[in-house]
Amino acid sequence: MNHPFVKLWAKPSRLVVGLMSGTSADGIDAVLTRITGSGPTTKVEQLGFHFQPFDAPTRRAILDLCGGETGGTREVCLLGTHLGRLYADAVRELLKKTGTEQPDLIGCHGQTVYHIPEETAYLGTTLRGTLQIGDPSYLAEEFGCPVVSDFRIRDMAAGGLGAPLVPYTEFLLYRSEIEDVALQNIGGIGNITLLPAGCTLDEVTAFDTGPGNMVMDELVMRLTGGTMHYDDGGRLAASGRVIPELLDRMMDDPYLKRKPPKTTGREYYGAEYVEKLLAFGDYPLVDILATATAFTARSIAWSLRRFASRLPARLVVAGGGSRNPTLLGFLREALPEVKIQTHEELGLDSDAKEAVAFALLANEALFGNCNNAPSATGARHPVVMGRINL
Ligand SMILES: Nc1ncnc2c1ncn2[C@@H]1O[C@H](COP(=O)(O)OP(=O)(O)O)[C@@H](O)[C@H]1O
Ligand SMILES: [Mg+2]
Repeated sequence: MNHPFVKLWAKPSRLVVGLMSGTSADGIDAVLTRITGSGPTTKVEQLGFHFQPFDAPTRRAILDLCGGETGGTREVCLLGTHLGRLYADAVRELLKKTGTEQPDLIGCHGQTVYHIPEETAYLGTTLRGTLQIGDPSYLAEEFGCPVVSDFRIRDMAAGGLGAPLVPYTEFLLYRSEIEDVALQNIGGIGNITLLPAGCTLDEVTAFDTGPGNMVMDELVMRLTGGTMHYDDGGRLAASGRVIPELLDRMMDDPYLKRKPPKTTGREYYGAEYVEKLLAFGDYPLVDILATATAFTARSIAWSLRRFASRLPARLVVAGGGSRNPTLLGFLREALPEVKIQTHEELGLDSDAKEAVAFALLANEALFGNCNNAPSATGARHPVVMGRINL
């Protein structure tokens, strides 16, 4: 049989590219991995990493489309193609950097432009949905290997929230027999994975804790008239003062209190949410930024206390937010009993972590292995997530 999978199945290990561009819309994380095996005994080695930032107009186009009020099918169509080609550019650079001719497989998350995890009334029925764009055909065409994309929708079809998706790979890579492991990612949104010592996949708890950098980023853009996209090193927030009344109001948040499984996004913590913060009172913008930074930390701490069966000894932080010392300071203050560590402190690469997850999820899809974590997404049963482009 001539099917491309037959050749890939026979290989003892495969070169798999993982591509991630998250809700921050900062750019594309591209990682080259060597994956050996599949399922519970999978081994992964990181061979190279490339980050390709989006230029300002592309970022603006993504954020505008995410807002849902601007942009129609023309934009969805054109931006989908534009992103598909940018993914291909990122992979070309990655392969150049690593001196690699051709990958065996690519896993591409795509760019979420809409995510509706709640049942929503529509055309006389209720439904949910998720849309990732960035056409994988451009990757398949250029690199001549299978590309797995559109992971989330299959979990949704099985009754899940389509998020979070990293718990399955975190279970594969980080679970310990002897200690509880808690992993917090701080991207646009914050999400936590709790892996009790010796747990099975069914015993993993994972959910979005609330905003990661999303609210802070929006405030920084307003504070700097769009010249800065994020609070580099947390310096701006460090120069502000937390407004206790506003922080209390933010903590009184229906999303926080909801029991997992749960997921959130720009639809909840986007521009409209920031408008409400600004309308709270006549405060300096840096103080509102300091408060939003404290809120990200407090929401993580609150969720951990409320939803973990016991506090872990360590919380390992990844994602762009782990580069914000002001945020980490607030987190340490809110969780004095827990040791807060970054991936870098453990000798791991936090930037590549989510991209590695999509390489692994693609590898599982290649073998027809279920790759969602129903305990995290709420799906009725395990499914194989991912559409395959040959
Ligand atoms: N040096 C830094 N200082 C402070 N914040 C940073 C730094 N680097 C990145 N970030 C934050 O991390 C975000 C990107 O995080 P990332 O993990 O890529 O999120 P996503 O998965 O949503 O793209 C940026 O928008 C910014 O808010
Ligand atoms: Mg990113």
